[in-house]
Amino acid sequence: MCGIIGYTGGKEAEGIIVDGLEILEYRGYDSAGIAVSQKDGSVQIRKCVGRVRDLRSLCRKGEIQGTCGIGHTRWATHGGVCDANAHPHRFGKVTVVHNGIIENYRGLAKKYNLQDRLRSQTDSEVAAAVLAHFYNGDPFAAIRKTVLKLKGTFAFGILFEDISEAIFAVRNVSPIVIGQVQEGSMLASDVTALGQYTKEYFVLPEFHVAVLKKEGVELYDMSGEPAEPEWMTVSWDVDKSSKGGYPFYMEKEIMEQPQVIAETVQPRICGGMPDFGVDGIPDNLFEDCKRICVVACGTAMHAGLVGKALMQSLVRIHMDVELASEFMYTDAIVDEETLVIAISQSGETIDTLEAVKYAKKNSAKTLAIVNVRGASVARASDYVIYTNAGPEIAVASTKAYTTQLAVLYLLTGRMAYVRGSFGETEAKSFASQLLLAPEAMQQVLDRKEEIHYIARSILNAKDVFMMGRGLDYSILLEGSLKLKEISYIHSEAYASGELKHGTIALITEDTPVVAVVTQSKLQSKEFSNIKEVQSRGAGVILFMKETFELDKEAAWESVFQLPAMEDSFMVMPASAALQLLAYYVSLDKGLDVDKPRNLAKVVTVE
Ligand code: AGP
Repeated sequence: MCGIIGYTGGKEAEGIIVDGLEILEYRGYDSAGIAVSQKDGSVQIRKCVGRVRDLRSLCRKGEIQGTCGIGHTRWATHGGVCDANAHPHRFGKVTVVHNGIIENYRGLAKKYNLQDRLRSQTDSEVAAAVLAHFYNGDPFAAIRKTVLKLKGTFAFGILFEDISEAIFAVRNVSPIVIGQVQEGSMLASDVTALGQYTKEYFVLPEFHVAVLKKEGVELYDMSGEPAEPEWMTVSWDVDKSSKGGYPFYMEKEIMEQPQVIAETVQPRICGGMPDFGVDGIPDNLFEDCKRICVVACGTAMHAGLVGKALMQSLVRIHMDVELASEFMYTDAIVDEETLVIAISQSGETIDTLEAVKYAKKNSAKTLAIVNVRGASVARASDYVIYTNAGPEIAVASTKAYTTQLAVLYLLTGRMAYVRGSFGETEAKSFASQLLLAPEAMQQVLDRKEEIHYIARSILNAKDVFMMGRGLDYSILLEGSLKLKEISYIHSEAYASGELKHGTIALITEDTPVVAVVTQSKLQSKEFSNIKEVQSRGAGVILFMKETFELDKEAAWESVFQLPAMEDSFMVMPASAALQLLAYYVSLDKGLDVDKPRNLAKVVTVE
């Protein structure tokens, strides 16, 4: 978490850094700060609790000039949310911004007698102090010695007080990308913050030192030998990072889904067949494995659950979905016959990354489904399939989730074909259904005001239950997470048949229930389970496949009929409907939809 940025070049740094922080704010928004190096090498710092807009006003009040600087937007880990703990941190001649966690900071503080000399409670200031301890005019030596002492994850942007107009950067695990811009160079936690200045960038290799100057970027390995950056090109338009006229990114990103799903699916259908030729994935990856294990967190893990339901029933292969954060701590059993699929929008979620490393250590084959090009999870895996969702800025994931689903459908279709569960005709028909998903979702999005109206009935609820079976249950887990994270309403998704094993005790007339019924073989059981909660007074909001027969006698709170697709694909229109439901509840509560409290978009701490 936390966003860092740096700029050095021919222009005033403050505006560029603060604008960049605004783009990176989704990574954390507890406090923000900036340090600008002056011509004489001295460094001016402004920092405050609150959003980047608060930092902007602070900078306006006390002008801060200079053409080289670093900035930070914080998601607090060590040390509460206060001005002193905001970055940048200065110690002696060293000023740093840091993303990551220095696990041994207490030991270091003791070892270097820092306790009484620190002004914050952060691990980051300790790192600045250790750098300052080793700095005697040679920045490389100081960085090398410091890095050897640190345990944990870090991405540092560093200013040394007597080296004007240069930024030093080094990282372990936490990301830094670097680009050369007109008359200068920049670093950032991710490419979206560089997008308006350059399309060419490279990922700073771990344990390498980059020196950013007005004239360009130099890269060295830890022994001081020059290294060659691996340049990449940003694959999305800068315009795609704007709100495009919507009040919140989340709404824009929900509305973009038909387009980005088509962009994810179409290149992977060749001659009517699901095909991963464009990703360079050989069929023997799918043929040779005996089981599949998905590792992912949050929404991405929920996508894995849909994948599991599809794969098990259509490919007939054993598939587990593991919380990446638990994976290695439960001594997960994977071997050379396991295909481990890591799903991650950002590709930087540390638990997912560590799970991939664990899987590789245990000889499993690894395949990443990632949105951000060149991200750590993608680079750590044997193969990668990129979702073409474009930048997802809202903390609540929407289009990344449904493009992950689209890839999982394609994988199901291809695997079923190469392993013999589908003949060519079935594989083609499966692919052609998937191509219809964008249109079905569009039909839901076109009726967003109906869902807005429905959302009013849960606006003041304290608890909301969600119920469904099979695939419907899988997507409700995600629908419930969406509602929790952006509306702060407690919500739980339950497999309908499980409710009466305890949880039904919580159902009263004050507990709205959201039910999804889209699976033909389960509908009669579903409707019986719904009756059970209606009998306890719950008002039920029903999302139902339009071709199913509705019990008109029952007292529905509301009913939304979902455009019909084959049952396996109903996940797509139903997901769009649940996203809109959560969005409108949050919007009508007047909350900051894109930046819910306590959260950050990229979770780079364990
Ligand atoms: C979902 O809305 C969340 N913001 C969160 O659960 C997210 O999906 C999770 O942190 C995983 O992120 P990743 O896809 O970038 O790995």
